[in-house]
Amino acid sequence: MLALCLACCLTGTSLAQEAEKYFDKNKLMLVGSYYYPEQWPQENWERDIQNMSRLGFDFTHYGEFAWAEMEPEEGKYNFEWLDQAIALAAKNNLKVILCTPTPTPPVWLTQKHPDVLMVNAEGRTIRHGARQQASWSSAKYREYVAKIVTQLAKRYGNNKAVWGWQIDNEPSHYGAAFDYSENAQQRFREWLKQKYKTIDALNSTWGTAFWSLTYNNFEQIQAPNNLVLVAQANPHAILDFKRFTADEAADFVLFQQDILKKHIAKSQWVTTNLMADYSPVDPLRFKKLDFPTYTKYLVAGFDMGHGVQGFRMGSMGGIGFANDFFRPIAGVTGVMELQPGQVNWGQYNPQTMPGTVRMWIYHVMAGGNKFVCNYRFRQPLSGGEQYHYGIMKPDGVAVSKSGEEYVKVNQELKELSKHFNPKATMPKSMLARKAAILYNPDNRWETENQPQTNQWDFVSHLKRYYSALKAVGAPVDVVDEQADFAAYPVMVAPAYQLLDQQLVARWKGYVEQGGHLVLTSRTGQKNREARLWEALFAQPIHELVGVKEIFYDLLPESRTATVQMEGKSYTWNNWGDVLEVGPQAEVWATYTDQFYKGKAAVVSRKLGKGSVTYVGPDTDDGQLERDVLRKVYERAQIPVLNLPEGVVVEWCNGFWFGLNYSSQNQTLPVPDKAKILLGQRELIPAGVVVWQE
Ligand code: GLA
Repeated sequence: MLALCLACCLTGTSLAQEAEKYFDKNKLMLVGSYYYPEQWPQENWERDIQNMSRLGFDFTHYGEFAWAEMEPEEGKYNFEWLDQAIALAAKNNLKVILCTPTPTPPVWLTQKHPDVLMVNAEGRTIRHGARQQASWSSAKYREYVAKIVTQLAKRYGNNKAVWGWQIDNEPSHYGAAFDYSENAQQRFREWLKQKYKTIDALNSTWGTAFWSLTYNNFEQIQAPNNLVLVAQANPHAILDFKRFTADEAADFVLFQQDILKKHIAKSQWVTTNLMADYSPVDPLRFKKLDFPTYTKYLVAGFDMGHGVQGFRMGSMGGIGFANDFFRPIAGVTGVMELQPGQVNWGQYNPQTMPGTVRMWIYHVMAGGNKFVCNYRFRQPLSGGEQYHYGIMKPDGVAVSKSGEEYVKVNQELKELSKHFNPKATMPKSMLARKAAILYNPDNRWETENQPQTNQWDFVSHLKRYYSALKAVGAPVDVVDEQADFAAYPVMVAPAYQLLDQQLVARWKGYVEQGGHLVLTSRTGQKNREARLWEALFAQPIHELVGVKEIFYDLLPESRTATVQMEGKSYTWNNWGDVLEVGPQAEVWATYTDQFYKGKAAVVSRKLGKGSVTYVGPDTDDGQLERDVLRKVYERAQIPVLNLPEGVVVEWCNGFWFGLNYSSQNQTLPVPDKAKILLGQRELIPAGVVVWQE
């Protein structure tokens, strides 16, 4: 298994080689900061850009919201200001990431062509006044986008100061999520025709005989929208509409990359910056980009983190999961926006725990990111994000508290670079426990559409397994079905509800060859088009898992039930798959109450050289998941760490990183013989230790 894993990691590397060419392999992670020349008096620019360079930043980032400045009137381009801003960056040894300004079309464009605007689920046209108001499906909008992108590409495609390009900004419509404009409706119908070819095939897959939904032709189809229906929309239509929307987001970005690539130097890379957890946009659909990047904010009133002060640091699965989700897509990734301190848009916006921003930056580095950047260098004095920290205080002169943490890391990285060996390879101890999380957005989209309980949350379910893998110190790749399963000694496939016999056969082969597969609640209930099997519930996985029957139970939020494993009791109430175990499987945990008391909750079986384990309950605290994962590794005789909740140990580029997201002091498992380069073994909350062995 280890040899296979090593070999397969090499195939993974071939992906990285393609994108690695854009980066100096002898350099550690670069650090940058967004700047908006169009939002500041020109007499500020020199001082600000000099300060950015003086504070140790390597690059800046311009233009994603500057279309009105670039083309104040249709066809009249004004780039002199941008020429000067780019020249200023170059003069101060700052590279520039240049953006296409497509999130913010100028008002003259949407007034002349209101049909380019998107329409939200309430049927309201999204207007000029904020951002992301245009429809990706509008051919007219794409005409204007093509023109401005061509202008930028021709003007800056061979400018030595331009390091790379960001297309659009967090391509999404944020809370408006789905586009119901006529443009989108028509493109959806074309998408359906492409997929189904005949209306009979669509009617059959969608099961439209149910409630007489049957369509005579594609023109009759409206994008499914629960806001205009008295009962839930057809789930197969919903799933297809989510797939279409994710395809449109990727297509809108990739069509801009095609334009750029016609004109820019081969040394300039092209990316976009995606929100790591935003489900309407699927990062896996951006594989044709040179590489993807992500944006990450953890402290804005939605993530309670670990312990009483966790709300000031966020969960370790925030940056950790994003690193391990984006890096495998092209073998290379970066963080285009990492929270710079207190923000303005959360339901409440706490101060970050001192040291947190610095810890986040090291977590980004530990995930193999080529660069990290922040929104933004200057705190805006006006406009929609005035209460958003920057690296500098509102005076533009003093460095903000959290800005100081960026500056401190800039200095520390220069020291760490002296110990950087670009030829370092992952230690065998880490390779031996390497794990994959198998992810397909269809499972997320489908279970979010039919949760069956108000307590189901696909991402929380998945991150409980992510945290369980990190607790044993496993390096993790989040992969899709194109991955080589054999590269991973352990694979977890959280809530893999939609599958086919081919996947089950691949899983079986993976296990027989020595893989250790963990399947969880809701797996195998449906085919790829979200139809239940005309068989026993989830029958396609019964033989593999070693069960004869599965039913599930769901409890009210105010009730909990318990399972027991090795004398330890665990509570659950989100979801409980109850398993009728067959002769091949061993029962690891049983339900200890409810009418099915004594029935199996967790089963595991050996198969060939490997094992397959099924975890029926979905808990809130993730304790059962952590203990089951540990047991899988122990039974597989793979040495593991035993890290407390919120403590992270990663290895990357020859460095070991220890991070403390918990609210208590923690002692990190730094070997006595280790050479500590930064910090110490005992970490306070938000503490960082970096060492070499
Ligand atoms: C996102 C956007 C930025 C800005 C920040 C605010 O990441 O990309 O333009 O709005 O959030 O935190």
